[in-house]
This record gives sequence, C-alpha cells and structure tokens, in this order.
Amino acid sequence: MGTVDGHEMVIDRGEGIYVFDEDGRRYLDATASLWYCNVGYGRQEIVAAVVAQMEKLHAYHTFGDFVTRPVTELTEKIASVAPVPGSKVFLTSGGSDSVDSAAKLARRYFHLTGQPERTMFIAREWGYHGTHAYGTSLAGMAPNKDGYGDLVGDVVTVPWDSVEAVEKVIEQAGPERIAGLFCEPVIGAGGVRVPPDGYLTGVREAIRRAGALFIADEVVTGFGRVGAWFASTRFDLEPDLVTFAKGVTSGYLPLGGVIAAPWIAEPFWEGGVMWRHGYTYSGHTTGAAAALANLEVVEREGLLAHALQLESELANALAPLGRHPLVTEIRSGLGVLGAVQLDPDAIEADPGLPVKAFRAIREAGALTRPVGGGGLQISPPLIITPEQVKEMVAAFTVGLDTVEV
Ligand SMILES: Cc1ncc(COP(=O)(O)O)c(C=O)c1O
Repeated sequence: MGTVDGHEMVIDRGEGIYVFDEDGRRYLDATASLWYCNVGYGRQEIVAAVVAQMEKLHAYHTFGDFVTRPVTELTEKIASVAPVPGSKVFLTSGGSDSVDSAAKLARRYFHLTGQPERTMFIAREWGYHGTHAYGTSLAGMAPNKDGYGDLVGDVVTVPWDSVEAVEKVIEQAGPERIAGLFCEPVIGAGGVRVPPDGYLTGVREAIRRAGALFIADEVVTGFGRVGAWFASTRFDLEPDLVTFAKGVTSGYLPLGGVIAAPWIAEPFWEGGVMWRHGYTYSGHTTGAAAALANLEVVEREGLLAHALQLESELANALAPLGRHPLVTEIRSGLGVLGAVQLDPDAIEADPGLPVKAFRAIREAGALTRPVGGGGLQISPPLIITPEQVKEMVAAFTVGLDTVEV
C-alpha cells in the first residue's frame, strides 16, 4: 500500500470495464480493481438493492438466534451453487477473515472429532492467503511473512506445482499430523500461476488419502472468474472447505465467507457445539443484499459461460505479447486470468522495471499491477468483450514499447 514515487493515482468513477481519474481520463481496468469487480462498474441494480436495504435496516448482527432475511437468502443461494451439495456457509468481512476462519475451523474440527494432533497445514510457494495471522503464516512469498517474529506454527511450505512434494510432507510428518492443504486453484497475487495438468486432482487425492482437509482458497477464482461458480466445481475437487470473497459482491460492499462441506459442519451442528468464532460483520445485512443483487447479475447475463468463452480468447489475444523483448512468458489459459511475465534478467538489472512497466501501460490507457515474480496482472471484469480484450492487449503493447531499459 502507498504511493509510487510520491505520486497518487486518484480514481474518481467507473463505468463498465473502465474507470476514470479526477482529470476525467479513462482507463481500461485490466485487473478489475483487486480481482473483484466481476460485473463491472456502475451497476445501478446493485446500488438500488443497497439503498433499499439501507433504508429498511442497514445491519443487524447474526449472533445467537438473530438473523436477517438477506443473510438467509444469500447463504442459501451460495449453498445452492457450492461445490459440495448440502454445504453450510459462514459469512465474514473479506478474504483474510475467511482464511483465518477456515484454518481455525479445520483445527477445531479435528479437535472435536478426536484427532487433536492434526494441526499441520501445508501451504504452497507463491501462495497468497491474505494478511491476518493464519494467512500471513501460510504465505508462500517470504517478504509477506518476514519481520513479524513467531507466526502460527505447524505450517510447511512446498513447491507450488508438485504433487510429489505434498505426498512427501505427508509421509515425513505422518498423515495423522496433517490438518489440511491450503490451495489456490490458480495462484493469484503470487504471479497468476496456472497449475500443471493433473496437479489439482493429484493433490486433492493425496490429501484425501491422508485423511486431511482440502481447503480451496477461491477468494480470486470463486463466483465466475474461471468460468464456473468455483474452480473446485470445474475440477470436481469436492473441497472440504472453500474460502471466498471479492467476486461474491464484485466489491460493491466488502463480504467474504467459508463454505463447509456437510461432513465438516456436522460435528458442530449435530453435536450442539458452539464454535466460539464470528465477526461483528459476519452476515452484514446490506453486504448480503449487495451480494444477492450481484449474483443475480452474474446469472442473468450468463457471465459464467461468457468467462469460459473468454478463456481461450484472452489466451489467444495475449500470445503475441510473449514475443515482446521485455517479456519472457505469458501465463493464461484458465479463466479470465493472466500474467505478462517481465524478463527476470531485465528486472535483476533494473528492479524498478515492473513499476515502470505498469506506469507505461497506464499511460497507454490500461490499469495493471505487478504480481509475485515480476508478472503484470490481467483479470479484467468478466463483462469484457472480445474487442475490449484486443484494446487491453494493445495498451499493454504500446505501454511496453515505451519502457526505457
Ligand atoms: C487467494 C486470496 N486469499 C485471500 C485473500 C485476502 O483477501 P482480503 O484482501 O479480502 O482480506 C486474497 C486477496 O487478494 C487472495 O487473493
């Protein structure tokens, strides 16, 4: 967070896939802000739903037997599209809340079911799971976890793309020690890394064999970004827990949550055990109203199918950028997600290159940002058209052409 070279970029308004600065200059938002604005800017139906809810009751808590109707409708809606039928939904204020909730839920689940020694989490290099205490401990990029002293213990980090590495940790630690694997189906902030073929099903199986929990962090990939409600559905992963945020409201209000498969929820529900965990805004009434209106847009406009179609269009449109002298690789091909990898040698020679590149692309009319390992993020709103994809790639090309190295 902060300024770049003392410069502040003040975003003033948004419309469709574009945002405008205070001088009225228009930019194509190639990142959908921070991966979240799936339905685009200026959606009056979401604004109207939020205003109507605020006028009636802006918020009431959901502790004890209290609840509000938008919250019950939203949790039912999310459960109806969850990767595992019969799942339960726990709402939070965002992605980091959801990760910490899922981690506590996993450990508590094993404590309740007579396996208290299962506390170890496996996390992946390049992984990003937010910035609360568990999320920081699970981070796969050292700068995100260094400098805080002791973090949450019992976390082992493995290479991001190796099933064998996960199997080895399970074997060495003993399966009876493993609580779960935290897995972004496509690594986002760590560089938009699409897993090798067979990776997701391979690690899912290894975790199942160990009797541990597969925890899909779908904060980025959930609610349409990979052409399905969840990547876990698309790859048939049957996750024990799913974390979500961002696309559930497209950012119209902050909201996140955890989806628990029925077998994980059961000991808490059937056993009558109160899980002493919950946030003031777990189930924020107007946040839930915004989410419901947003999910209605996703369905009405067929954005899951559109995203699936965009997947190959995006990959094809980006491919020529791979031949740019400053670029060594284009990562794309799964969902409306991509990264333009800047040449690591050029970055070593000039560590300021990623910032220079994103500012040059901004000058050329598109907003991107550097992600882990020197890639430039591509995750536009899901409503982007094939013509606008070309416009986006043109801005990247013009911008990169003007970068002086
Ligand atoms: C995969 C993943 N998990 C968790 C988070 C944390 O979400 P939040 O910033 O809403 O706390 C993010 C944020 O980018 C994310 O990408």
